[in-house]
Amino acid sequence: TVYPDQHIASRQVARRICDLIRRKQQNGETTVLGLATGATPIEVYAELVRLHREEGLSFQNVITFNLDEYYPMSPTAPQSYVTFMNENLFDHIDIPKENVNIPDGTLPLEEIPAFCLAYERKIEDLGGLDLQILGIGRTGHIGFNEPGSAPNSGTRLVTLDDLTRRDASRDFGGKENVPTKAITMGIGTIFKAREIVLMAWNAKKAPIINKAVEGEMSSEVPATYLQLSDNVEFILDEDAASEL
Ligand code: GLP
Repeated sequence: TVYPDQHIASRQVARRICDLIRRKQQNGETTVLGLATGATPIEVYAELVRLHREEGLSFQNVITFNLDEYYPMSPTAPQSYVTFMNENLFDHIDIPKENVNIPDGTLPLEEIPAFCLAYERKIEDLGGLDLQILGIGRTGHIGFNEPGSAPNSGTRLVTLDDLTRRDASRDFGGKENVPTKAITMGIGTIFKAREIVLMAWNAKKAPIINKAVEGEMSSEVPATYLQLSDNVEFILDEDAASEL
């Protein structure tokens, strides 16, 4: 779906999340959300905060799982995805702290495989993700599933692509300060979500959106795997859609 601009598109996505939460609340059910970081979803989160404040949207029975976190990464570092999520969403809504799940960037290496398995299991035990929101990196990554990621990959430690580290260099004051690794949900994990919404704004994303939507499916552009799913919607502004 192509919207005239990212503001209208972001409000649409927030409204969809709000409707899902309210629908499940009416049935006494918990909503399990998969969340993303980066510049792309910031306005969606701002709109959810507004809906909480002005329209009484409650997150008391919402459980969230973030896609990824840099490794190593302290949760209190300004660049951590924990800080990002707190500043953009969690500090401003009524979600119980124990309902928030973000991969742990502080674990010793040898504990990461068990942590990743437990992350997957926790999502499964809750009945799976109701909705996963995604951005897209210029390498075609979703979460931090870089080129070479397998379609059935699970949550794991990955090595970041050079372009991804370059794109993150502003946040870290230079590429050399960007971690070389991350913990990310896998493509397989993302695929199990009942609904997937991938958002992209700006002309900078137009070439990779073209490849993701119209290109041949390949591990070289992990987002092309989304072509396999019936439950995916790409939500774009006109600039991101300009090469379709
Ligand atoms: C990072 C995140 C991705 C995100 C991507 C794009 O790599 N791990 O989840 O989609 O950045 O970021 P932006 O939305 O800032 O373009």
